[in-house]
Amino acid sequence: MSDAIKVGFVPLAAAPRGILVVFCDDSLKVGPATAKALGAANELVKRAAAAAAFKGKSGAALDILAPEGLKATRLIVIGAGKAEALKASDFLKFGGVAASKLHPGGGAMTIMAELPDDAMTSEQAVAIAAGLRLRAYKFDRYKTKKKDGEEGGALHAEVSLGVSDAAAAKRAFASAGHVVDGVILARDLVNEPPNVLFPEEFARRASQLRKLGVKIEVLDVKAMQKLGMGALLGVGQGSARPSRTVIMRWDGGRKGTAPVAFVGKGVCFDTGGISIKPAGSMEDMKGDMGGAACVVGLLHALAARKAKVNAVGAIGLVENMPDGNAQRPGDIVTSMSGQTIEIINTDAEGRLVLADVLWYVAKRVKPKFMVDLATLTGAIMVALGTEHAGMFSNNDELAERLLTAGLESGEKVWRMPLGPEYDKLIDSQFADMKNTGGRHGGSITAAQFLQRFVDGTPWAHLDIAGTAMGAPKTDINQSWGSGYGVRLLDRLVADHYESK
Ligand code: BES
Ligand code: MN
Ligand code: ZN
Repeated sequence: MSDAIKVGFVPLAAAPRGILVVFCDDSLKVGPATAKALGAANELVKRAAAAAAFKGKSGAALDILAPEGLKATRLIVIGAGKAEALKASDFLKFGGVAASKLHPGGGAMTIMAELPDDAMTSEQAVAIAAGLRLRAYKFDRYKTKKKDGEEGGALHAEVSLGVSDAAAAKRAFASAGHVVDGVILARDLVNEPPNVLFPEEFARRASQLRKLGVKIEVLDVKAMQKLGMGALLGVGQGSARPSRTVIMRWDGGRKGTAPVAFVGKGVCFDTGGISIKPAGSMEDMKGDMGGAACVVGLLHALAARKAKVNAVGAIGLVENMPDGNAQRPGDIVTSMSGQTIEIINTDAEGRLVLADVLWYVAKRVKPKFMVDLATLTGAIMVALGTEHAGMFSNNDELAERLLTAGLESGEKVWRMPLGPEYDKLIDSQFADMKNTGGRHGGSITAAQFLQRFVDGTPWAHLDIAGTAMGAPKTDINQSWGSGYGVRLLDRLVADHYESK
């Protein structure tokens, strides 16, 4: 982890250090402690706001250098917009905006976590702290020419958040900080180059969750052959790097209660195989393991914050390569479920990997539900762009809960349809099914394929091809790999599946 931003909590009335950050609403009103800290500079803020046409709209920032009458090197006023309408994700955004104002090398910053009418709650202050760390993340371990204090160099920042109850905020951040660590772990995995992060290395990194008390089981090729995972193994057979499946278990809940399960597509590199992809942007296919990265990041978050839940993560790790031993269009493979699959296009490999891992989890784990995450189809980007992940589900309650967790966390999902009319598009003339469904509704036929392997288990599939990587930069993410899904699913678990 390369972020070096230290966050601490102090009383609201503590003397600020370095850059001072305060909040106002859309009438430029600030809270009482803030007004007191500003003193004569309250007038300065009014003048600067008028000069910069700053109206306090949510996330806008007024930046005043060397403010007269204050010890601060810089005064930054962040707009909170309409104070009544604030959601958790707004506070993350405020933290992100504040982090964007740190000098390239870092330094000290004090943020007064106060709204015009009230001090912020611990949760709100903690969301700001999380937003700071998410924004400050940078993947730079392969840059050898960086210098401290320069653009692109290492960041050494110390940020103090002024809050009404510093002890309570500190406690809450201990937990939220682990979720941020999980997001950062997922981002690191997505950003790593594919010569470094191949299936065995990915399995090794996932195994490091042992340190947090997660039980790890790694299935090698022989073990998967014994289980009959012919769909997953067919994808990996053209690669010099052997495939792996990793099962992670966090037993933080009541003994004997069925776990919740998360399944990730972990294609460490997707060339398309014999149905090879065009060269343009093929390098992006190092991120085709974004689903698996999310599952590892989520298990990290749950274990580190000792979530009171039984949770299983399962990831199928392969590399999809063209080779003398690669699978061909026309091949028929037998999945662990016994169902046979005609390969039409070797580039529709993610569903083949998930077919065996979903079946394994449904049968062996018997979870309460399974959510899978996969950078599955280009078509989901055509449909939804990069704002929402596509959600497919056979269970309305689970779908509702994911929708709500998406709005709370800001990692949004949009429900897409399933149905028998779509399902029949993947019937094959030679086998039980084929692995593509034709030109139309590509994300839907991919989801129909997966549904044939869930065995009636309550299930949701999240197609994260548009959200896991390469999405536009935001206030809380400047990284190519976004870590999408960790906060969404942590929220889902916290809201509905943790015992008290
Ligand atoms: N990994 C890709 C999907 C993808 C594309 C993810 C772009 C992120 C960015 C997946 O394995 C794939 O190749 N899907 C094909 C399916 C088709 C062959 C039916 C696609 O979407 O074109
Ligand atoms: Mn593919
Ligand atoms: Zn793929």
